[in-house]
Amino acid sequence: GVDHDRVKIKLQSSHMFRGYEFTVIITGATIVSWRVNNQEQLFVSKQAIFDGKKAIRGGVPFVFPQFGSWAIGPQHGFARITQWALEKPPERLPSGDVEAIFSLQDSDFTRGIWNHAFRLSYRLILREKELHFNVGVYNPGAEAFSFTILLHTYFKAPDVRRCQITGLTGSTFIDKTQEGAVFRESRDVATISEYTDRIYCNTAGEHVICNVVSGRKMRMQKYNLPDTVVWNPWAEKAKGMSDFGDDEFPNMICVEAGHVASPVLLPPGTVFEASQILQVI
Ligand code: BG6
Repeated sequence: GVDHDRVKIKLQSSHMFRGYEFTVIITGATIVSWRVNNQEQLFVSKQAIFDGKKAIRGGVPFVFPQFGSWAIGPQHGFARITQWALEKPPERLPSGDVEAIFSLQDSDFTRGIWNHAFRLSYRLILREKELHFNVGVYNPGAEAFSFTILLHTYFKAPDVRRCQITGLTGSTFIDKTQEGAVFRESRDVATISEYTDRIYCNTAGEHVICNVVSGRKMRMQKYNLPDTVVWNPWAEKAKGMSDFGDDEFPNMICVEAGHVASPVLLPPGTVFEASQILQVI
């Protein structure tokens, strides 16, 4: 297994940014901690497994090139279980922001699952109260390929039943808890009170999620990520997950920005760019 302590990177430098940091595990480029003013924003299960083989239960795993189950490979693709490269170590920019860039390209391992040449770049920028995620998918090959992509963000919450999500109103959603039945969201503010697994299609460019962390609001802005997945396993499903505590479901909510309802078709020599900004408000 991988010694996960050695692949963690903490971004913390001048006093200005003390208490503002994030930690990335290079296996899977999963962000496992994001602290704003010393307060953790992300949920990671106490039972999460850090062996470099299994996806980490919490934080922000990187889902690519497949969202959901996959006939030819692991659920949610291989990016969240593959060793990434640290392309550019954490560096302070003239603006005061801190930037780090991770990359992943095709290898024998990825080719064995999905036979395409690709290059992913994942640029993370830490700013006071903000974390920016910039994703690039490049096709260096001679043939087009298609993929789905998603940032699987787990937010910490005092009680998921009190979370409210804006920006879903009027969107069509695929309810994975009801064999993919399709509905339309009519609520101005969505709340959840049971097992929830929904793909909201073509949502607003911005969500505000209320009552996360210690009751704060989180703004999620997204670009080129048209869909939003909302997931909480609730009590019964939680019991079936070996890397998730039976009593942890009230303390998390997944609000996941992605391009998943329809795949991206990427012609040779072109790049797909998308981004997400999280901001504590
Ligand atoms: C969500 C999916 O994004 O991720 C759910 O919509 C899935 O269907 C959940 O159960 C967790 O997936 P995994 O592979 O990390 O257990």
